[in-house]
Amino acid sequence: MRKIRVVGIGAGNPEHITVQAINALNSADVLFLPRKGEDKAELADLRREIIARYLTDPRSRTVEFDLPVRDAGHPSYTGGVGDWYRETAALYAELFAGRLGEAGVGALLVWGDPSLYDGTLRILELVRAAGLAFDIEVIPGISSLHALTAAHATTLNRVAEPVTVTTGRRLSERPPEGDVVVMVDGRLAFRSVDGEAYDIFWGAYLGTGDEILISGRLADVAARIETVRAEARARHGWIMDIYLLRRRTGSAVDGET
Ligand SMILES: C[S@@+](CC[C@H](N)C(=O)[O-])C[C@H]1O[C@@H](n2cnc3c(N)ncnc32)[C@H](O)[C@@H]1O
Repeated sequence: MRKIRVVGIGAGNPEHITVQAINALNSADVLFLPRKGEDKAELADLRREIIARYLTDPRSRTVEFDLPVRDAGHPSYTGGVGDWYRETAALYAELFAGRLGEAGVGALLVWGDPSLYDGTLRILELVRAAGLAFDIEVIPGISSLHALTAAHATTLNRVAEPVTVTTGRRLSERPPEGDVVVMVDGRLAFRSVDGEAYDIFWGAYLGTGDEILISGRLADVAARIETVRAEARARHGWIMDIYLLRRRTGSAVDGET
């Protein structure tokens, strides 16, 4: 039976990769390396750098492929994602059947951790549902969420407090009830949040040489984040940023009010 390893490679720093992930890549027969278009060429470069740095097993082969592009004009966001999943699943089925022997082990390099805002595991279930049998093994990775809290030398949660992980789209629809981590935010949803009530810990290009960090009371730093973000985005042609909004309690001790 074929096996597909879904390997978290960390969120931007080649040194994020774990020993478990390096061993998993080295013992795979084929490494499937997605390309996501010119704007994000630097992301594919990180994957190539990881392969060049850590791959010692000469049996390993790399197969690069172009991912389908999601239709951003689809009337329904989830409908557009569903179509994209199905197209990508068809491509994976073709690649696995065509490039991997019946007992072969393939590896997919996934940004950050495969369980966090990543469709790979759902897409693999679609490939299986369409009739191709294979085992799935997941190797966890350092997520952008943890790269963010580490870069700011702060905790994710306050004592005994929950944290919601959400998207910019969701945050712009309703105000946060407590502390939130916001990912995939192209719309600067923090602008809709009460700036006096929250501190923000913002990070872009985390783990890379271009990392930018800004933190402080949201009301004080929101405009600076907006400007810095726009400049960086124009410079690189793309941006990946993430932030933690932590409710201000006025107490020196986490969670105390
Ligand atoms: C599709 S999700 C993938 C998340 C990934 N699985 C993880 O564990 O971090 C992409 C989002 O993750 C965040 N992200 C990923 N890498 C990042 C980085 N190096 N710096 C800042 N944000 C990052 C951004 O919010 C981006 O929009």
